Amino acid sequence: MTSRHRLFGEALPPAVPLKGRRQELATLASALTAGHVRRLALVGGGGSGKSVLAAALARKLRRRFAGGAVWLRVGNWDHRTLLQMLALRLGATRDPLIAGLCARLRAAGPMLVVLDNHENDREMARLLEVLADPPVTWILTARRCLLSGVSIFPVVAPLIQSRQDAFPEVRGLTSSLRWNPLALGIASALVRARAVTAAALKTWLERAGVDRVRVMAHEDDVTEVRLLVDWAWRRLAIPERRLLAVLASCPGDHMDAAALAAVGRARHAAEVLQRLRRWELVQEPLPDRFALHAVVRYAVADTVAPVPAARYFEYYVRLLERNPERFVLEQSHLFAAMDHAQAISSLEKMLRIEALLSGG
Ligand SMILES: Nc1ncnc2c1ncn2[C@@H]1O[C@H](COP(=O)(O)OP(=O)(O)OP(=O)(O)O)[C@@H](O)[C@H]1O
Ligand SMILES: [Mg+2]
Repeated sequence: MTSRHRLFGEALPPAVPLKGRRQELATLASALTAGHVRRLALVGGGGSGKSVLAAALARKLRRRFAGGAVWLRVGNWDHRTLLQMLALRLGATRDPLIAGLCARLRAAGPMLVVLDNHENDREMARLLEVLADPPVTWILTARRCLLSGVSIFPVVAPLIQSRQDAFPEVRGLTSSLRWNPLALGIASALVRARAVTAAALKTWLERAGVDRVRVMAHEDDVTEVRLLVDWAWRRLAIPERRLLAVLASCPGDHMDAAALAAVGRARHAAEVLQRLRRWELVQEPLPDRFALHAVVRYAVADTVAPVPAARYFEYYVRLLERNPERFVLEQSHLFAAMDHAQAISSLEKMLRIEALLSGG
């Protein structure tokens, strides 16, 4: 393995034991390597398993691409910010931005780039247009995608078509939770941790209305998950709730325990995280870096008052002023800090960000 492979490989989220998906992986891998699909969008509902599938695909294929595989969470960022993030990730010059990035991508050789959590069609179209020439194969994951020039692959919950149970510990909950792997993963973790039995959880979910028809407030508003978060929330201690609140309001990608403690003004964050991890309420996209799944985040944010954006700003800007070597790891917080400075029109805050960006 070359050092280039190692560098990009580490940027992929950790592998999860994959249930089902044999067929999808084989179909998508051959479509992407045969060269007739250069832009692929995995499209499906919240928590249906798009990001996990994209990660498995990238892991399976990365050695087939001389330039390796890169992972970038795109969300709703504008295309200039996305270009900056990609340039930082690839170590490309940011002045001139587009030419520098194109040159870096050409030099790296054919590359697989996953743009996870796509939300903004207009900005994505701009990004893919300005980077149309370098030899990149793109995989997007999206709840919906109204982009031409992109092959759409619908993603449904694993094993739903064969009506098999992907999570044996909570077999009895498969249909109540409508095969949703995010919901089944949390339910299964609760049962494994002996917080509740599958039968008791099923009764609770039915009483709470898991089968009721109602209008979703948002694509993140997935009833099966919201109810499980509700079940857990009632049983969590105050410090656990506080850390969840910090993660639910976090404008960047992921935080470490020290950041959670500082922003959440909580002590012993690492211990407090233990139960949240066991119950699979938090994810660990990189070792010792924590985040909430978007659907869990929505459920928590609906329950608790938001943590002010200024607190994240102060913590991360100060951290990066002192530790500029953490620039790449914490980049999403820096871009979020820039958004915050602009939103409140604070010249002083904008200048601090500017200084960091020009030095980074
Ligand atoms: N094939 C699978 N095998 C095992 N677990 C899975 C699988 N697919 C998904 N999961 C579980 O479900 C969770 C949600 O999956 P994932 O994050 O891929 O959903 P998503 O479709 O990307 O959701 P969103 O639209 O909110 O980004 C994962 O964190 C993982 O725990
Ligand atoms: Mg996803």
